[in-house]
Amino acid sequence: MKINAPEAATVTVPRLELVKKAGKQYAEDFRVSEKLLEEIIIGFPVWAANIAPPIRTFVYENKELLKGKRISAFACQGGSGAEKAFGKLRSLLEIDDFFSTAVFIDPKDRQSEGNKVRLDTFIKKLKEND
Ligand SMILES: Cc1cc2nc3c(=O)[nH]c(=O)nc-3n(C[C@H](O)[C@H](O)[C@H](O)COP(=O)(O)O)c2cc1C
Repeated sequence: MKINAPEAATVTVPRLELVKKAGKQYAEDFRVSEKLLEEIIIGFPVWAANIAPPIRTFVYENKELLKGKRISAFACQGGSGAEKAFGKLRSLLEIDDFFSTAVFIDPKDRQSEGNKVRLDTFIKKLKEND
């Protein structure tokens, strides 16, 4: 796995392991244990100032599962719309706020100091109560 910002690895790698574990468990018995769902991070590209449709479908179809969980969100965008999209995601999830949020500007194509700083802040918050 290639991580653009190496400092993200301390948080990303262990969480990716959990995602893999959950995927394996789901493939085996069509369920994921509550333990593996304690923390949810929803990432999406901003499309027309909204969450991308596959994310909307996923959240809509898993609303019950996501209830009461610690939910963070990050958005990738070219220019603007992320805050509006976060609002739509909050309404869909019926929550007042996310635990942590971050907005990245085209991170796949454009590495920038701003994206790194925002990633650091996002990660610091995620590490609280780890
Ligand atoms: C259909 C579509 C709609 C988009 N709408 C917006 C938008 O409203 N605001 C914005 O800032 N970027 C918009 N973008 C740009 C993407 O959000 C941005 O390039 C993002 O970083 C892409 O992430 P990805 O490389 O992970 O797909 C749009 C891109 C697509 C394909």
